[in-house]
Amino acid sequence: MSYGDDGPEVLHDVSFHAYEQEFITFVGPSGCGKSTLFNIVAGLLQPTAGSVVVDYKETTGEPSKNIGYVLQKDLLLPWRTIRKNVMLGPELSHSTKTYENKVEALFDTYHLHGYEQSYPDQLSGGMRQRAALMRAMLMEPEILLMDEAYKALDYPLKIELESELLEHVKTAKQTVIFVTHDIEEAVTLSDRVYILKSHPGEIVDELKINLSCDSNNINERRLSPEFNTYYERIWKTVERGTK
Ligand SMILES: Nc1ncnc2c1ncn2[C@@H]1O[C@H](COP(=O)(O)OP(=O)(O)OP(=O)(O)O)[C@@H](O)[C@H]1O
Ligand SMILES: [Mg+2]
Repeated sequence: MSYGDDGPEVLHDVSFHAYEQEFITFVGPSGCGKSTLFNIVAGLLQPTAGSVVVDYKETTGEPSKNIGYVLQKDLLLPWRTIRKNVMLGPELSHSTKTYENKVEALFDTYHLHGYEQSYPDQLSGGMRQRAALMRAMLMEPEILLMDEAYKALDYPLKIELESELLEHVKTAKQTVIFVTHDIEEAVTLSDRVYILKSHPGEIVDELKINLSCDSNNINERRLSPEFNTYYERIWKTVERGTK
């Protein structure tokens, strides 16, 4: 991928796969092309070369209905209330009735009750990010793209919502493709981690994570005996990639 005709190559020969119901994570230095890659996968950006295949069908260059995307910037619509932002998907697909109860439950889970009628600029950064998460979670897309989705949250809330995410994606049988700079987050959430380097962005390592703890609780997963080995392996590769 290059931006423009004579722009530098941002991503070079990046090839990856995600199995159904797998949780995969990309870790890599700032500017190595993670958000670019996600925009390509989501169909928002046409790659210079290459293709994206979902369920054996090429989807390159067109937004896919099966993909939910929590962008790095929350991109809430400022003229709509929080509830109307969260209900955007059902509204576009004329199915608001189906989601009435579910949206109530989501406002509970994400601790945003009382803010249904507020507008995005009346909320803090972390609250806006939670609203963006709710919008992506509501319709349970087959594939969830999450670009630093928990970055703006305080630690206890992040742990709570990440544990909820693991529980939820297993029940809803979703595949998650995730980006984070937080190695602890990568190890506790993922089945597999891809590590990127920059200039140009390339995959330099792939690591299967297999924690013996099968709880969805992030704090319990963090205490798995294998945690440190995975953490150090990712840290060393990331450190090499940024030098
Ligand atoms: N629309 C654009 N036009 C031109 N260059 C762009 C555009 N978007 C991103 N870039 C460039 O592509 C490179 C990769 O950017 P990208 O946002 O994909 O990185 P990232 O890995 O997501 O970084 P971060 O971790 O900081 O979010 C950067 O050098 C950036 O300047
Ligand atoms: Mg980014």
